[in-house]
Amino acid sequence: MARKNKPAKTAPAKPRTPAPAAKPWEHAKSGEGSASDPLAARFVESLSYDRRLYKHDIAGSIVHARMLNVVGLIKPKELKEIERGLSEIGKEIEAAGADYGAAWPGWKVELEDVHMCIEAALIEKIGDAGRKLHTGRSRNDQVAADLMFWIRDSIWGLGKKFSPLFRALFTLAERDGGIVMPAYTHLQRAQPIVVGGELIAWAQAFSRSLDRFDALYELLEFPLGSGAIAGSSLGIDRKETAWFAERANLLDDFDKPDLTRSSIDGTASRDMACDFLYALAMTAMTLSRWAEQWIIYASTEFSFITLDNRYTTGSSMMPQKRNPDMLELIRGRCGNVYGHLVALLTILKGLPIGYNRDLQEDKRHVFAAYDIVSDSIEMAARIVATTKFNEAKIAQGLDRGFLDATSLAEYLVTKGVPFRTAHQVVGALVRSCESRGYHKLGQLTLDDFNAACAAASQPKVCANDVYDWLGPENVVKRYRTYGNAGVSGFAEQLKAWKERLK
Ligand code: ARG
Repeated sequence: MARKNKPAKTAPAKPRTPAPAAKPWEHAKSGEGSASDPLAARFVESLSYDRRLYKHDIAGSIVHARMLNVVGLIKPKELKEIERGLSEIGKEIEAAGADYGAAWPGWKVELEDVHMCIEAALIEKIGDAGRKLHTGRSRNDQVAADLMFWIRDSIWGLGKKFSPLFRALFTLAERDGGIVMPAYTHLQRAQPIVVGGELIAWAQAFSRSLDRFDALYELLEFPLGSGAIAGSSLGIDRKETAWFAERANLLDDFDKPDLTRSSIDGTASRDMACDFLYALAMTAMTLSRWAEQWIIYASTEFSFITLDNRYTTGSSMMPQKRNPDMLELIRGRCGNVYGHLVALLTILKGLPIGYNRDLQEDKRHVFAAYDIVSDSIEMAARIVATTKFNEAKIAQGLDRGFLDATSLAEYLVTKGVPFRTAHQVVGALVRSCESRGYHKLGQLTLDDFNAACAAASQPKVCANDVYDWLGPENVVKRYRTYGNAGVSGFAEQLKAWKERLK
C-alpha cells in the first residue's frame, strides 16, 4: 500500500547543545578530543558523584601546596594565593547548597571530575600560581589520597552513628531485659534465656562491627606524592606532605609513617576501599540478621515484640496490616551492600597494575554502600528505641517446647549420672510426656523420673530438688558460665555495657 505522506527527507532540526569546551589538560591531542562528543563526555565523567570529595580534594591540595612551598617548588606568596583561592572555592561550593554544592558554576562536566573542576576554578581565580598546584602530582595519586581521607572521615562518622544504637539496646535491655523468653536454635525452641541476654548479643555483634572499622585506621596508607605511576624527579617530600596532612587532621598520627611504599602500588591499589566495603558488608549482614529476627518476633504467630507505628506501614488493600517495612528494607538493602563489595572486587580482578580508568568506579560503590549502612544503623537505633517486648505474650507459650530439658540433664549430672546417659534419660522422659499429653517435664512425678533412671541402669538419684531445675524461670537463674544468656550473665554484661557507655 502506498504511503499517503512521504517521510520527510531530512530529520527536523534538533535543538543544538553547545559543544563543550576542550579539556585544558589534553594538549597532546589534536582537535577537541572526547569533550567534543557529548556522549563521550558524559560517559567518562565522574563529577556527578565524585564532587562529594570536594572538601577532601581541597584539603589535600592545600597540604600538597604547603609541601611544594617547603621544598622550594612554589614561593610563599604563591602558596598564600593557592590557599586563599582554594578556601574561597570551598566556601563557594558550600554555599551552592545541597548535593555537594550541585549549583556551583565551577562544576563543568566536560572537565570530568572534582579534581579538574576545582583546579580550573583556582586557575581562573588566581592565574599562574594556580597552574603550579599540580606540580609533582597526578590525578592518580590525588584521587587515591582523597578517597583515603574520605574513608577515614566516614569511619569516624559511622562510629558516631553506632552510639545511639548501643544506647537504645542498653535502655531496652534495662527495661525489658529481665523477661524470660525461649532461645532458638534452628528456629526451634532450645533453652530459656532472658530478653536482655539476646539484646546484649546484638550489641556485642554491632560492637565488633565498630572494632572492624577502627582496625581499618591501622591499614590506611598515604599515597600522595606517588604521581601518575613512577613518582617524580622533582624534590617532592612525601613525609612533609603527610606531616601537613596530620596537622590538617586529614591523617592520624603519622610517626610510623605509613606512606605507601611503592608509587605503582599506591596509585593502583584500592585495598582500602575493599576493606571498607567488607566492613560495611559485615555491618549490613548483622543488621539484616537482627532485622529478620525482629520481623519474626513482630509476627502475630510470635507477638514477642510490638514495633512502634512510625516504623511499620499499612497495606493498600488490607486495612488491618502493620508491616515491618523498615526492618525489611534493612534486610533487603544488605543485598545491595554485598553487591557493592562484589562489584568492586570484580572491577579490580582483571586490572593490570598502575592506574586504569576502571578504578574511577570505586567511589560509586563505596559511597552507595556507606549511605545504606549509615542510614540503616540510624534506622535500627530508632526502631530499638521504640520497641516493646510483650511479657504476657511471651509467658503464654513459655511452657511449650520442653525448654528445661537440658537443665534436667544437668541436674542428673550433678547427681553423678554421665552426661550422655542423662541426655538419654531426659529424651525418654520427653517422649513419655508427649505420649501422655503432658507439655511440661514438671508434670512428671518423682517416680517417673526415677523409673527413667532405672531404665537406663542408673541409681534412682532424683529427689524433690529436681523441681528447682525445671520451669524456665528456675532455669534462667541457674546458668553460671561466663557470658551466659540467663540472669547472672545478663547482669554481668549489662554492667560492662554501662561502663562502656559512660
Ligand atoms: N576521576 C578519576 C578517578 O576517579 C581521576 C583519575 C583520572 N586519571 C587519569 N589518568 N585519567 O579515578
